[in-house]
Amino acid sequence: MKSDNSVLKASSNHPFDIIQGGMGIGVSNWRLAQSVAQQGQLGVVSGTGIDTILVRRLQVGDIDGVFRQALSQFPIPEMAEQIVADYFIEGGKPDDQPFKLLPMPDLDMDRLRQELLIVANFVEVFLAKQGHDGFIGINYLEKIQIPTLPSLFGAMLAGVDYVLMGGGIPLSIPGCLDGLSKMEPVELKLSVEENIDGIEFSHRFNPKEFYSGELNELKRPKFLAIVSSEIVAKTMIRRGSGEVDGFVVEGHTAGGHNAPPRKTGSEEPASFGVKDVANLDRIKAIGKPFWLAGGCASPQALEEAKSKGARGIQVGTAFALSNESGVLPEIKQEVIEKSLNGSLEVMTDFQASPTGYPFKLACINHALHAKSERRRDRICDLGYLRELYYKGNGKLGYRCPGEPEKQYLSKGGCNEKTVGKQCLCNGLAATIGLEQTRKGIKELPIITLGDDLSFITKLATDTMTGYAAKEVISYLKSNKPVGA
Ligand SMILES: Cc1cc2nc3c(=O)[nH]c(=O)nc-3n(C[C@H](O)[C@H](O)[C@H](O)COP(=O)(O)O)c2cc1C
Repeated sequence: MKSDNSVLKASSNHPFDIIQGGMGIGVSNWRLAQSVAQQGQLGVVSGTGIDTILVRRLQVGDIDGVFRQALSQFPIPEMAEQIVADYFIEGGKPDDQPFKLLPMPDLDMDRLRQELLIVANFVEVFLAKQGHDGFIGINYLEKIQIPTLPSLFGAMLAGVDYVLMGGGIPLSIPGCLDGLSKMEPVELKLSVEENIDGIEFSHRFNPKEFYSGELNELKRPKFLAIVSSEIVAKTMIRRGSGEVDGFVVEGHTAGGHNAPPRKTGSEEPASFGVKDVANLDRIKAIGKPFWLAGGCASPQALEEAKSKGARGIQVGTAFALSNESGVLPEIKQEVIEKSLNGSLEVMTDFQASPTGYPFKLACINHALHAKSERRRDRICDLGYLRELYYKGNGKLGYRCPGEPEKQYLSKGGCNEKTVGKQCLCNGLAATIGLEQTRKGIKELPIITLGDDLSFITKLATDTMTGYAAKEVISYLKSNKPVGA
């Protein structure tokens, strides 16, 4: 089915009621987003770690040639050609050999490193936009700041329609989108730990340094901030650097990272409570369109969201388990089977993520996540979740609570923060089959899912064949009562 999006575009500002949530890394890939957009809904690719993903896809041989084909469409051919020359391996690297790593993102990134970010984001959006005239968004995490500006530029070169961002309060982003759309230099304020001198650090990016041709304007994508409360939504409106076009209001049952619980003073250990439920009346009163996320994968939830004033819903987990997503098929199958026989456990881990945010973890054999079972020598070699800290004398350092403890402590990190940390960068790369191999040992996957898996009984009637993204959408739009 091909939806008539030209009609939709003319009739409404945001002509979709379902957003397929951005899921890093590489879970909401271009194929998934494309399928969703073909159904007239908003397909969202993940821009997180997409540079590493692209160079690994090239190192495993780009079997069907799709990435080289997309690279050949990049408007500055030399940039894309350099990447192919540096990373493509005909026939793929030997399975027991490690992937070639990129330098970790930092403020001193050289030109080639920035080009990789630009090109990789372009490629993912370019591919997602093929074969339909629907809408494609890209998702980033506010906590990951250094790659953001070149990434936005790359996505905009491919004509991305929406930028969605959560995992923090992305105040600088709307203004950066305005600037990039006019091909002007932009600046992203950086969060820096222990910044005792109160110095304002920022990342500056000038698109004209990378694109010297005749290009003075790019489409300004719409910006949707992912928020957990009316307070954050209002802050975005009051203090955001430009237009916020709407909100995704995400609850703590959602897959991926969750906003930290709001403290009531007595909770120990950490847990979510009534204070962590957004006040939708107040969000509605802001007057911007919004979509609800977290446990919304049912036709009833879609209707209910609308009855509360939302435009619709954002759904992640149901799409993460669909055939098109980047998650390895054997992991999807195990999750579905375990869910059907009642043995799947999804927990909120308040320690695992180096970001310090709660993170949902599913316990499956492919991804033994319990700390006792998950033996891994700590190593930080992708570095997306490194935090910036102030070293004094105007200098910045980088550290990750998931790196070797000694190293982290030597950079002034506190011991408490290292407890229970997992390497999400490497673990999530393994979940999409792009795991690193070191001395013959492969990284284990980490799988994140939302709390609500009730959709599985409706969608995964055959655990071997699974289900397509199109079926998720038909189900969400079916408005059948549960159990029918
Ligand atoms: C596998 C997975 C990865 C996710 N990664 C991200 C991410 O990188 N950025 C983000 O903003 N949200 C992320 N999310 C959240 C989804 O975009 C979506 O908001 C959420 O899954 C909705 O709740 P649900 O899982 O109950 O459908 C992720 C969710 C899943 C299941």
